[in-house]
Amino acid sequence: MDFTRSDFPEGFLFGAATSSYQIEGHAFGGAGSTHWDTFAATPGNVTRAEDGATACDHYHKWKQDLDLLAALNVDVYRFSTSWARVLPEGRGAPNNDGLDFYDRLVDGLLERGIKPAATLYHWELPSPLADLGGWRNRDIAMWFGDFTEVIMGRIGDRVWSAAPINEPWCVGWLSHFLGHHAPGLRDIRATARAMHHVLLAHGTAIQTMRGLGMAHLGAVCNFEFAEPADDTPEAAAAARLYDGYYNRFFMGGIFRKEYPEDVLEGLGAHMPEGWQDDFDVIGQPVDWCGLNYYTRKLIGPTGGAWPAHEEVDGPLPKTAMGWEIYPDGLKHFLKRTHEDYTKGLPLYITENGMAGPDEMENGEVRDEARIDYLARHLAKVREAVDEGANVAGYFVWSLMDNYEWSFGYEKRFGLVHVDFDTLARTPKASYHALAAALSR
Ligand code: FCB
Repeated sequence: MDFTRSDFPEGFLFGAATSSYQIEGHAFGGAGSTHWDTFAATPGNVTRAEDGATACDHYHKWKQDLDLLAALNVDVYRFSTSWARVLPEGRGAPNNDGLDFYDRLVDGLLERGIKPAATLYHWELPSPLADLGGWRNRDIAMWFGDFTEVIMGRIGDRVWSAAPINEPWCVGWLSHFLGHHAPGLRDIRATARAMHHVLLAHGTAIQTMRGLGMAHLGAVCNFEFAEPADDTPEAAAAARLYDGYYNRFFMGGIFRKEYPEDVLEGLGAHMPEGWQDDFDVIGQPVDWCGLNYYTRKLIGPTGGAWPAHEEVDGPLPKTAMGWEIYPDGLKHFLKRTHEDYTKGLPLYITENGMAGPDEMENGEVRDEARIDYLARHLAKVREAVDEGANVAGYFVWSLMDNYEWSFGYEKRFGLVHVDFDTLARTPKASYHALAAALSR
C-alpha cells in the first residue's frame, strides 16, 4: 500500500467489514429460517443454489477470525447481528445461544482492543416475517424496533457504534424491483413500500436505541456513480433518475425528511398511504453516516415503463463482478454527502473493496489488483478530506471471502482467502500489505 496512518487525519479509523449471513453459518446455533435460505433453494436465483448454511462457519471459528482482525492492525470491526439468529421466529422468544454468540463476539473484540461497529440488519429476514409480507408490511418497523430492543438490550452497552440497516437500496430496489436479491420480487408497488418501510424501520430502531441510552448511531447507504451513456439530454436525464432512486432517495429521507421529486414521479402512485407523515421518525437525528461504494454505472434511455433506462457496458477496467473501477466516484459522494446532506457529521466509508480471481498458488494468494484498488480509493478519500469532507474512517469489504449473495461462493472479496471445502483461512497479499500500512 502506498500510504501509512500518518497520511490520514489524527484519529482516522481503519476497519474491516463482514455480515452475519455471509460468514456465520445459519445451520448452527439455533438460527431460524431466513428469506435467503428459501430464495437460494429456488432454482435460478443463486449460483449453484448455494446458501449460508455453513458459510465460513464463523459461528464456531470466531476466535480465529478475531485474531486475524487483530493481526491486521485494524481499529474497528463492522459486523452484523442476524435477526433470525436472535429471534428465530422474527418475533417472540429470543434464542439465547444467538444472544450469547454476539455477547462473546463483542467481548472478544474489546479484549483485542478492536471497536465493535454493529449493523442490526444485513438482509437475513426471518421467514415467518417474510410470510407476512416482509418489507411490504408497515408493521415491519415495529417488529424491527422490537428486535433492536432485544439485541441491543444485550450488547448495546459495549458496541462502539450501531447502524440499523445495511444498504436500504438493496433492501428496497434490488430485492423488490430488480428481483436479484431475496425475496426476488419484480413489482413497483412492492418496491415503493419496501423503500419507505425500510426507512421507517431505520428511524424506529434509532428511537429504540436512543431509548436504551446508546450513542454514536448512524445510517449506512450504498452509492453508485451514475454517468450518462452518451452526451444526449435523454442520457443525462436517465443518469440523473438512476442517481435519484439509488442515491438521493434514502439520503433525502434520512437527512432532509423528503423524497426527491423525480423519483416520486415514478414511485408516488405506489407509496403506502400516509407516507408523508413518517418523516419525523425516518429523519431521527443520527451521529454519523456510512457510505458503501464500489463502482459507477453508465446509464442510457430506453422505451417502456418508468424508469425507462438501462445500464450500458462501460470501458473502464472491471473487477470479477464486472464492476468498473472508478475511485473518483467515492470522492464525489464523500463531498456531496458532506455538502448536501450531513453538513459536518463524521462520514465513514463502511464498505469498499473488490472481487478478484484470487487463485491460491503454493499456499499464497497474490491479489495485487486488490492492493491497487484499495490504494487508489484511499487516495481519493485523502483528496476528499483535503477538500473539506469530514471523513473519519474506512472499512474494507471484506475481512474474508464469504457468501456473495446471488453469486454464491464464487466471488471472492476477502483480504483472507477461505477454502470452502476445508474452511481454512489464508491471508492474501492484500491482507499483509494492509497490516503493514496500518502497523503503529
Ligand atoms: C454490498 C453488500 C455486501 C457485499 C458487497 C460486495 O452491497 O453490503 O454484503 O455483498 O456488496
